[in-house]
Amino acid sequence: MCPMADQMTRPLEGRHILLGITGSIAAYKAAMLCRLLVREGAEVQVVMTALAKEFITPLTMATLSRRPILVEFFDPENGAWNSHVKLGEWADLMLIAPVTANTLAKMTGGVADNLLLTSYLSARCPVMVAPAMDLDMYAHYTTQRNLAELQAHGVKIVEPGSGELASGLEGKGRMAEPEEIVEAVKAHFAADKKKALAGNHFVVTAGATIEPIDPVRYITNHSTGKMGYAIAEALAAHGARVTLVSGRTALAVPPGVDRVDVLTAEEMYQAAVEAFAEADGAVMCAAVADYTPREVAAEKIKKQGEGDMTLTLRRTQDIAARLGTAKGARVLVGFALETCDEQAHAEEKLAKKNFDFIVLNSLRDAGAGFRGDTNKVTLIDAAGSEELPLLSKREVAERIVEKIESIIIK
Ligand code: C5P
Repeated sequence: MCPMADQMTRPLEGRHILLGITGSIAAYKAAMLCRLLVREGAEVQVVMTALAKEFITPLTMATLSRRPILVEFFDPENGAWNSHVKLGEWADLMLIAPVTANTLAKMTGGVADNLLLTSYLSARCPVMVAPAMDLDMYAHYTTQRNLAELQAHGVKIVEPGSGELASGLEGKGRMAEPEEIVEAVKAHFAADKKKALAGNHFVVTAGATIEPIDPVRYITNHSTGKMGYAIAEALAAHGARVTLVSGRTALAVPPGVDRVDVLTAEEMYQAAVEAFAEADGAVMCAAVADYTPREVAAEKIKKQGEGDMTLTLRRTQDIAARLGTAKGARVLVGFALETCDEQAHAEEKLAKKNFDFIVLNSLRDAGAGFRGDTNKVTLIDAAGSEELPLLSKREVAERIVEKIESIIIK
């Protein structure tokens, strides 16, 4: 085959892969893995933990990846800084192979005590891990819990195989063979290409707003932002560019999503209207305060006698309704959280706010609404309603995004 044709058929051509190697005997397989990735056209930057260097030499990995490998935060010779932020931005995929039980635990715990882990925390790209460990360590509930948690946050797992382990025992824990890992990487990028919402920009509002009363107190609600974050994540996974206008939450920004942090309904209004001006659609998932204190006291309000106190509230702006008037042919999706006459209230909002469809959740359904990881919703549009079973919020998000796709791609 001529070199040109070879280049055009290499499936990983131009892909930037940050290959993390941790301290496992399976690190020797990372050499072959690196070689195969490079052969498929990928640019590979290796980042190793200190212990990984004991299993496979930096010289081997630097030669195979054709780049100096990285281990430390800075070069002790000249102080040159190895920026984990830049590595995280550079990568199209972070692949940690082998990943040890120790590194898995640190990843779930947000530990940042080496360059590999800080790169993981900074990575905006998808992350894939190939575990390697002894069978009992692999089967241990903490390892399984950590893997499940990482998976729930979008980390892809290349399952280990069963067979003879370095310890001499037989069982599950052997790192997948380099060829299998390369297949998983190729499948990941192939799926990437099929992203139906590529080229579309969506605004998602999420979480609760906070309306200050004085420098100490505020009015808010129970929204955690989980549903909105799951929708932002699902939209990004389908190829969309996503601006997530978020009230205060404890959640991490999903991979590939731009977050704009806001506090009050007014700030959310400004940010959402600005982002929607150049967007192709929006999903209004935030629990926005309908009222805010008419005046915010400059100093902490003091108790006065034993009597009641009155707080005067004024209406906030309805962000969804404002986007509804400007939407034109763009897609607008709303939420309705109701406690009574659910269907009728949701249908009223569908029309009033000019939504393409509305996602109704009732606080009366077990497992629906705030805080939890599950939701039970009904999707309502002008044509009718579709009641979904109790699903994880990520699964609900997937169904919402599929419905958005069916509207955009007619
Ligand atoms: O009228 P209600 O608040 O129940 O409507 C809920 C829908 O409207 C949700 O999609 C919510 O995000 C959106 N909304 C908004 N701005 C407001 C109030 C609600 O975007 N001020």
